[in-house]
Amino acid sequence: MLERREICIFASRPLSHDAPARPASARRSGPLKGAFRAPGDKSISHRAFLLGLLSVGTTEISGLLEGDDVLRTGAAARALGAAVERRGEGRWSVRGAGLGSLLAPRETLDFGNAGTGSRLTMGVVAGHAIDARFDGDASLRKRPMRRILDPLVAMGAQVIEQGEGGRCPILLRGTAEPSPIEYRTPVASAQIKSAVLLAGLNSPGRTTVIESEASRDHTEKMLAHFGASIASEAFGEAGRKITLQGRPQLVARPVIVPADPSSAAFPLVAALITPGSDIVIEGMMMNPLRTGLLTTLLDMGADIAVLDRRTEGGEDVADLRVRASALRGVDTPAARAPSMIDEYPILAVAAAFARGETRMNGLHELRVKESDRLAAVAEGLRVNGVECAIEGDDLIVRGKGAAMGGGSVATHLDHRIAMSFLVMGMASDKPVQVDDETMIATSFPTFRPLMARLGADIA
Ligand code: S3P
Repeated sequence: MLERREICIFASRPLSHDAPARPASARRSGPLKGAFRAPGDKSISHRAFLLGLLSVGTTEISGLLEGDDVLRTGAAARALGAAVERRGEGRWSVRGAGLGSLLAPRETLDFGNAGTGSRLTMGVVAGHAIDARFDGDASLRKRPMRRILDPLVAMGAQVIEQGEGGRCPILLRGTAEPSPIEYRTPVASAQIKSAVLLAGLNSPGRTTVIESEASRDHTEKMLAHFGASIASEAFGEAGRKITLQGRPQLVARPVIVPADPSSAAFPLVAALITPGSDIVIEGMMMNPLRTGLLTTLLDMGADIAVLDRRTEGGEDVADLRVRASALRGVDTPAARAPSMIDEYPILAVAAAFARGETRMNGLHELRVKESDRLAAVAEGLRVNGVECAIEGDDLIVRGKGAAMGGGSVATHLDHRIAMSFLVMGMASDKPVQVDDETMIATSFPTFRPLMARLGADIA
């Protein structure tokens, strides 16, 4: 049985992000109790579809995140020549077209809200002699794409059409023989790194990417898993140098998707700030390039026990027991930003409930996420009576151990802004409203029922 979401995406019908805005409101809740597994990791789910497309044979995926963003990438993989089938809940199979044998998509690849899906797929297309048109929703159309297109053009791809400032809609013409390049990423971004590596797959030589701060390494790990020859070594103080040998024989491999720490972050912080809570988050991915929030919350005095560390599907995972805690303000170093880049909105909520000042340093990349998250978070805190300031690229939250709430938050088509402020409402004096919860379906479609099961009062 196909679900509505899947039918919509695979038949190119209107999607949840085209649907009218749906406000939601969270009120004082809890205590939160229970054990659960967060949905599959979004980053790994996108990559599973794309590597399945580029491989020979059938890739079986389990634990896939069935959020709109990822299903868009599945639809793109299908448009580029893969046979993509849903086998059951979170279980998908992808019969690959194979590296060098992609088809030109007949229609525009509509990535909706998905920055990762669109940017990684640009890398895939750039390494093939095909044209593909990329587009998305109002949020995606605002996001910078030059950072992806510049290295792809250096490799031989051509941008035939583009929106203002190199943004979507974009018509990209790939090349059958991408030049091997050495590329230094201008910012720590796994999306830039991954786009270059995916384009470099079809290059006759070696592609090297240098990043001065390490970003998430799922592409490197998964490429190795599918049979590519790829090496990663330390570069400078905190960077990496990644070298990929072109034209590997990519062979279909099973992918087990671990639980997404960026989604688990919402119930995790909800439990910390909602008095009396005691929850267990099962199978959360503990890849050190993704655990910056955990490090920070532990610094803040959070009562989180890391239990049963193990390996699942090539990633470290663990169960987390989380109990309501009295948090204190901390400084987060800019160098930690890549490992918690998507978690600042919910960290800002935790900081509001901490005692003392939290200073989050080096948040410039937050300005180019699904929304300008720096501005959206500060505004959301202010309308709920939390004192905060933006100083350059830093966010300062003056926590008082409680929040007044009562505000209505503009979410700007940003799922993480919506979830963060609904979590805030669960522990505030007055309810917190968000203007639109529909975008939550991009990354955490089960957010509402899961939070309700734990004891959240969201309507
Ligand atoms: C992602 C990388 C990050 C992150 C995004 C997912 C990925 O973006 O914010 O949600 O899967 O590669 P940047 O690479 O732009 O930092």
